[in-house]
Amino acid sequence: MKLLIKGGKVLDPINNIDDVMDVLITDGKITTVQKNINDNEAEIIDATDKIVCPGFIDLHVHFREPGLEYKEDITSGSEAAAVGGFTTVCCMPNTNPAIDNGSVAVYIKDRADKTGLVNVFPIGSITKGQEGKELSPIAELISAGCVAISEDGHTVASSKIMRNALEYSKMFDLPVMCHCEDKQLSREGQMHEGYFSTIYGLTGIPAEAEDVIVARDIMLSRLTGAKVHFCHVSTKGAVELISQAKEEGLNVTCEVTPHHLILSDEIVGDYDTDTKVSPPLRSQEHIEALIEGIKDGTIDCIATDHAPHHFEGKDCEYDLADFGISGLETAIAVIMDKLVDNNIITITKMVELMAVEPASILGIDKGTLNEGNLADITIIDPELTKDVDTNNFYSKGKNTPFKGSTLKGWPIMTIVNGRIVAHDGVVI
Ligand code: DOR
Ligand code: ZN
Ligand code: ZN
Repeated sequence: MKLLIKGGKVLDPINNIDDVMDVLITDGKITTVQKNINDNEAEIIDATDKIVCPGFIDLHVHFREPGLEYKEDITSGSEAAAVGGFTTVCCMPNTNPAIDNGSVAVYIKDRADKTGLVNVFPIGSITKGQEGKELSPIAELISAGCVAISEDGHTVASSKIMRNALEYSKMFDLPVMCHCEDKQLSREGQMHEGYFSTIYGLTGIPAEAEDVIVARDIMLSRLTGAKVHFCHVSTKGAVELISQAKEEGLNVTCEVTPHHLILSDEIVGDYDTDTKVSPPLRSQEHIEALIEGIKDGTIDCIATDHAPHHFEGKDCEYDLADFGISGLETAIAVIMDKLVDNNIITITKMVELMAVEPASILGIDKGTLNEGNLADITIIDPELTKDVDTNNFYSKGKNTPFKGSTLKGWPIMTIVNGRIVAHDGVVI
């Protein structure tokens, strides 16, 4: 079985490739990347004027299975990932039950294999039941296929338990993905604390609720030497702290979401509950710091924090609504339209942020078009302009503040292990 992707602009930053080339795939693996390949046996994909790059990897999604399948399940989540241009996703453990033992992790992998669309890696819970009291069996989680541990949705409040988790994960060189939120400071908060929260009459979540825990976890990374990855950084303070930690040579990385890069707290004034997310959309000053952090390399990657919710969790008063944004099906278009098209970052930088660096953080052999690698490839049409129509979402979560917007630059084909899993917005 052969596929030949012809005439696309191939971007493979690891191999310094940025040129019009062909990519030949044989039996699921990349055979060669060259100019003018001809192969009579291969199925041809015409990629003229398209971008051909290593498959995008999302370190941070919520697939809600087991237990909350009415919001999303592994099949609907995988479909959303595939049409969104992602070939690999890592799913967070705040399911019910939580991914706090090997059998839940194996179940998720099994369900993902049966769905057979994208690579799904589970992330184990730091503590049992995400209760913050007792460590999960971390070695067991790793044996069952977990690629990281996290308490996402919550923060491990006890510094002592966090220290123990880091000491433990250090032994396995396992990334610990931190959702940084001091719940004492953020409690009852609905949106970013500042000018607009005052005007809109909503309780604020101060930037310091994030900064305090980022500072703590940097200190604990220094103490233990463990790999700490900061989820969805949203504040200027967090960027500054992480920049200093990196300068010091600590083992820290971080991600930012498309929504935190693009949307400010001002839009909460419509009281559209799809703007309600944790951490909250911040003010312009913070957004500028995030963009700077991307440019100077403090921010390693972009992750969606795809957090699908049922309409009942959003079709209510702002203060009662669930936190979260359904992000997989708009991420590439949002970054292409708002950042690449406005010359804030290059497409190559986008590929680094969404394929190369996530693979490097996970320590997996992906994020490049190396010959012999499994063929995970994303093809993007930089000129395609479409409206965000949630009726067409494969995700069960229609909760996006980007609904109705017109965006330019969309993924048009997703190839996983040499198989086309999505084409023109349709799952294959
Ligand atoms: O907005 C959010 N939603 N932030 C989180 O940390 C958790 C997530 C969810 O699970 O819905
Ligand atoms: Zn989180
Ligand atoms: Zn999350």
